[in-house]
Amino acid sequence: MRFHILTLFPEMVMQGLHTSIIGRAAERGHISIEAVNIRDYTLDKHGKVDDYTYGGGAGMLMQAQPVYDAYKAVAEQIISEKKPRVIFVTPQGRTFHQGLAQELAREDDLIFLCGHYEGVDERVLEEIVTDEISIGDYVLTGGELPAMVMVDAIARLVPGVLHNTDSAVTESFGDGLLEYPQYSRPEVWHDKRVPQILLSGDHAKVDAWRLEQSLVRTKERRPDLYMAYLERKKG
Ligand code: ADE
Repeated sequence: MRFHILTLFPEMVMQGLHTSIIGRAAERGHISIEAVNIRDYTLDKHGKVDDYTYGGGAGMLMQAQPVYDAYKAVAEQIISEKKPRVIFVTPQGRTFHQGLAQELAREDDLIFLCGHYEGVDERVLEEIVTDEISIGDYVLTGGELPAMVMVDAIARLVPGVLHNTDSAVTESFGDGLLEYPQYSRPEVWHDKRVPQILLSGDHAKVDAWRLEQSLVRTKERRPDLYMAYLERKKG
């Protein structure tokens, strides 16, 4: 899986994503991440990428030309026969969730466009964007953090990125439920004991206990997910 991120702050994206698990996966070649500086593609001799909004209003807008040319440069070097999905990261998009991460993890290439200032000229969005995605109902100063959030969530689903293939399946949301509580050594800490069943060595009982805990937690904390789980069970 290859991630291409069109941004005005490539160092922010590269620093954020080249550490820990995602960084190691990139070093090992399971994924690749390139950040493309939109400013490198402006035809303006002062390196400008933004301008005033027609019709007036506060703030500057990212212009179509540098965004389009940066996109073209990336698209031309993609070898896949399929046209890659181009994700514009925006609070106006549909909300990101685990199911969407799973869907996007099946792509060969993904291009992310990170907006800045007050937005991006609508005409270039019309020409290149296939998906508009938000990470939640709040507004950030730019698209870099949301793009990094999505790349992290997608990349860890790519085969080989996580060592333990189970953990992507059993964790929260893998089956639409929140994860059960977990414990490590010591057996007693601050007078709190690890639930006895986890020390029993009976795997069937442990699995049953964990499922029950997941159900209790999901019902309590996320009744919306719990109802959806019950509906799926029925159908
Ligand atoms: N850009 C600014 N805020 C955002 C958000 N919540 N999601 C995606 N992109 C954004």
